[in-house]
Amino acid sequence: MIDSTTIRQVQDAADILDVIGEHVALKRAGKNFLGLCPFHEEKTPSFSVSPSKSIFKCFGCGAGGSIFQFIMRKDRVSFPEAVESLAQRLGIPIARSQPSPTAQRKVDLASVNSWAAGVFRSNLQDQVLGRSAREYLATRGLSPQIQEQFKLGLALPGWDGLIQTAASTSRSAQSLAAAGLVTARESGQGWYDRFRNRLIFPIVDASQRVIAFAGRSLELADEKSGAKYLNSPETPLFSKSSCLYGLDQARDSIVRKNQAVVVEGYTDCLMAHQHGLTNVVATMGTALTDLQAGLLRRFCERVVVVFDSDQAGLQAADRAIDVFLGQRIQLSVAAVPQGKDPCDYIISHGIDAFGQIVDHAVDALEYKWQLARRAQQDSDSPAGQHRAIEQFLASLARSAHFGSSDPIWRGLLLNHIAKLLSMSPVQVLAVVNQLKSRTARRVQPADPSGPVSTASAQTPLSAMDKALRQVLEVLLNKPSYIEKVAGVIAPEDFSQADLQTVAEAVFKWAGDTDQPQLSDLLAGQSSLDQADLITSLAEQGSRKGNFQPNLSGAMDYICSYRQRRNSLDAAESIRRADSDLSDEQVNELLQQVQSQLKTQNRRNPGIRV
Ligand code: UTP
Ligand code: MN
Repeated sequence: MIDSTTIRQVQDAADILDVIGEHVALKRAGKNFLGLCPFHEEKTPSFSVSPSKSIFKCFGCGAGGSIFQFIMRKDRVSFPEAVESLAQRLGIPIARSQPSPTAQRKVDLASVNSWAAGVFRSNLQDQVLGRSAREYLATRGLSPQIQEQFKLGLALPGWDGLIQTAASTSRSAQSLAAAGLVTARESGQGWYDRFRNRLIFPIVDASQRVIAFAGRSLELADEKSGAKYLNSPETPLFSKSSCLYGLDQARDSIVRKNQAVVVEGYTDCLMAHQHGLTNVVATMGTALTDLQAGLLRRFCERVVVVFDSDQAGLQAADRAIDVFLGQRIQLSVAAVPQGKDPCDYIISHGIDAFGQIVDHAVDALEYKWQLARRAQQDSDSPAGQHRAIEQFLASLARSAHFGSSDPIWRGLLLNHIAKLLSMSPVQVLAVVNQLKSRTARRVQPADPSGPVSTASAQTPLSAMDKALRQVLEVLLNKPSYIEKVAGVIAPEDFSQADLQTVAEAVFKWAGDTDQPQLSDLLAGQSSLDQADLITSLAEQGSRKGNFQPNLSGAMDYICSYRQRRNSLDAAESIRRADSDLSDEQVNELLQQVQSQLKTQNRRNPGIRV
């Protein structure tokens, strides 16, 4: 953990114009500086740097943040790495705060794992003990070089090989147990090894830590009973759904090619690397998750997912669409023919043939569209076409990400989808929203116009969401207003996950520090998406100005919305409680409830700004 005072010191010492100016030719434009954005292709400058606020913002692609996010994006490094590289340039020594207990646990786990990887490795290299496993690897066509590079190892057949070695080097059984390497015997007496008679594939993360192991059975019987691979359990260091096998080896190549190839199996990944295709990682048998896609997006813009067969592809297509919408990556999919996996295919057809499969991957939306059309027998008739379009757009409407993804990205995707379907983007959006509201019954406020800006017509935000958003826009420019907001609004009120996370950070920032600076808030952001969102909210707020009236307008709206919702809820419960009441009686009760709510609101001093 880098100490927060050091982060601030580095930020204060760095000149954002100097650092960004090395990569972008900047021209003064009023208080700000303008140039061509280094993060997307453009001919007219929309990349702006504000030296007074110490932030940058691109109005074309939406990237924004402090000097740290600029370096993270430019050099594709993590937040601590960005701080370190800048500190080094400026000659500022890095002070590290005591690692938190969780951080310390991770350090300990990584150290046990790294030790165990060494033990497994020397087992495999042992003249006698490792012979048959090495022979097996040879029959699988995996070269000694690739075994070395991926640190492959061997867990011996006995029950206590690892635990004995640990004892002889005075490592505690508890520390091995924490990493899931050994398990306590049921009798309570002693421990036994988790991995026995298995080939070991250490799973290493992008910062070169051994975070877990996969063990492939060397007994055919296991393979039939389905226990071919055994993984480490989930630990604070390892979560199967958020890491990718081989990322440590593939990282540089992924950055160079601006593309990652994702396969399903360990051996697929190894075989591709052995044949020189080095931008390949594996998901460990599951469909690509949002977290994995988000991880890849740090390194590249294009991802190709290669499925073992068309069948697997069919099942994973919906998942792929969701990831595509949510993660702002260009996602394509391909399947290996003849039910082979990439490992077998590379052996039998060569790496160039596999490269062809990757090169001919179809973009995920188009793939899904093809599937929807194939599902209709009469897909050329108007009725069949109608059903295909509805089925396809319904899968978009189902995607949790459709409403919340970045508006520019969504706009680009809409154009793309519109072209596929030969419709206009506006029509597509209308249908998707219609399908969406058919499935999700949301409480809509009676009067969605209100005092709230309706600037982004394309965003299907409810008026309530817009009002909440406006509160954030103001707070980012006038953090002292937090006092007026805090008692009335909580981060949980934000229905969209991304805004909720940002709200938590903003509330904490505005409440904790005196004279909070936007760049301080940004300095703590290790997520680039979040930094983009914060910067764009701050910018929108500052452009609108009129902080006080905008805040009170939004707060008024939020309070009256709640009041309406409360009375609706009250009406509902009154009806449910006594269905014999006449409509007049219900109305009378409602009026009582409403006037009570009004008095409550008047008593709440936090609301008026
Ligand atoms: P495969 O069965 O295709 O394994 O599962 P593989 O990688 O091709 O292995 P070989 O070539 O038969 O030796 C693909 C991936 O699914 C996960 C593993 O990550 C595997 O690499 N898997 C599979 C498991 O986690 N457990 C299993 O029992 C099987
Ligand atoms: Mn396989």
